[in-house]
Amino acid sequence: MKPFVLAIDGPAGAGKSTTARGVARRLGLPHVDSGAMYRAVAWQALKQGVSLEDEAALVAMVDRAPMLLDPDGMSAVRESLEHWLHSAEAGEAASRVALHPGLRQRLVAMQRALARPPGLVMEGRDIGTVVFPDADLKIFISATPEARAERRFLELEAKGERVDREAILAQIRERDRRDMERATSPLVRARDAILLDTTGIGAEEAVDLASHWASLAMRPVRRIGPVYAFGSGFTRLFARTLLDFEIEGLDRIPRKGPLIVACNHISFWDPPLVGAHLPREMHFVAKAELFHNPLFGALIRAYNSIPIQRGPQARTGLRGAEEVLSAGGAVLIFPEGTRNKSGELFAPRAGVGRLAAATRTPVAPACITGSDQIRRSMRRQVRIKITFGSPMMPPGQTDRDEVRAYARKVMDQIAALRAEQEGASGSNRSR
Ligand code: DC
Repeated sequence: MKPFVLAIDGPAGAGKSTTARGVARRLGLPHVDSGAMYRAVAWQALKQGVSLEDEAALVAMVDRAPMLLDPDGMSAVRESLEHWLHSAEAGEAASRVALHPGLRQRLVAMQRALARPPGLVMEGRDIGTVVFPDADLKIFISATPEARAERRFLELEAKGERVDREAILAQIRERDRRDMERATSPLVRARDAILLDTTGIGAEEAVDLASHWASLAMRPVRRIGPVYAFGSGFTRLFARTLLDFEIEGLDRIPRKGPLIVACNHISFWDPPLVGAHLPREMHFVAKAELFHNPLFGALIRAYNSIPIQRGPQARTGLRGAEEVLSAGGAVLIFPEGTRNKSGELFAPRAGVGRLAAATRTPVAPACITGSDQIRRSMRRQVRIKITFGSPMMPPGQTDRDEVRAYARKVMDQIAALRAEQEGASGSNRSR
């Protein structure tokens, strides 16, 4: 059995540890705090008088006593270390030892060795990018520096420590800078990591959300049915051989867990072209009218299409899509609600926001261009391009204003992808 790996990364003070620990408990998996390993190295170095800047000496020290850094071995000395390990001093020292590539290599090897069935939840800075680039699920937890400083301030105040708010904020900014700008494994969001912004939400809610995604990602992936396999295989072959076709950003698509892909809509080619190129089985939300013709209706139904009702039934019209997402599946949706060849993006309908909020599903934006000119693309006069974006966190509330605002945010992301496409083709105009 392959171990299930949940990678949680993010800056200091965003709620990473609380979330990771909470999720691990709910999933019944061990929790590994990789930051504690860096802190333990710093502790050992300070204790033995090894300079935090001396990489060779640090590596030699780790090689002499690797057990101390293993989370199992660590637990023996944890008790006495606990207080120091969580101090700001330890964090500072850890962030300095974390700058050395050779030392990181040692720790990364130990971290990888911990992935044994049934799996684990590991948190850190480079878990989804370096330690487990093929993790089953990646979550990037973040919050504004101000929100993180405020939390830290309240934490210290509760402990009876008198501290200065501004000083904490400055410290957090400095640590971010060091973690993000270092040459080896800097803190960056993995391209397929779901963003979990904890600025406006409580710890409990963050644990709920992350556990929801993770428990669905742990389910075995349904085998792709023959109709879908044939249809998508045929579409990919068609695109590859007969069209001038380019696809970008597939590495931003999470392979497991619930997902909505939201794309602009130009032509009836969009659902098959976008769907067939996604690395997982998609379900398609389509206007109920399309199912009226019995033959065509049966065909698209066999190809994972779900009818959606609009107008007065809009609220229940998304039920089919909700069912797919509640089982951990993936749905392709066109927020503009109709085909649009104007060249401008239309304002979105609220459906994408409502669906994401109701099922707490992340949304990956997608942008397609050129699909209204299939013939010209076959003559290599127009390039059809599809670009995918990283998954956005779902809206927290299902109320009208919030889901509408969220749908607009999704369209903004689609527009940004289109600008990215145009920028990229500036130097490489289609022939
Ligand atoms: O998560 P933490 O605050 O305990 O981490 C302490 C320092 O360790 C942090 O500033 C950067 C470093 N670190 C790292 O470089 N890579 C990791 N996977 C975890 C922590």
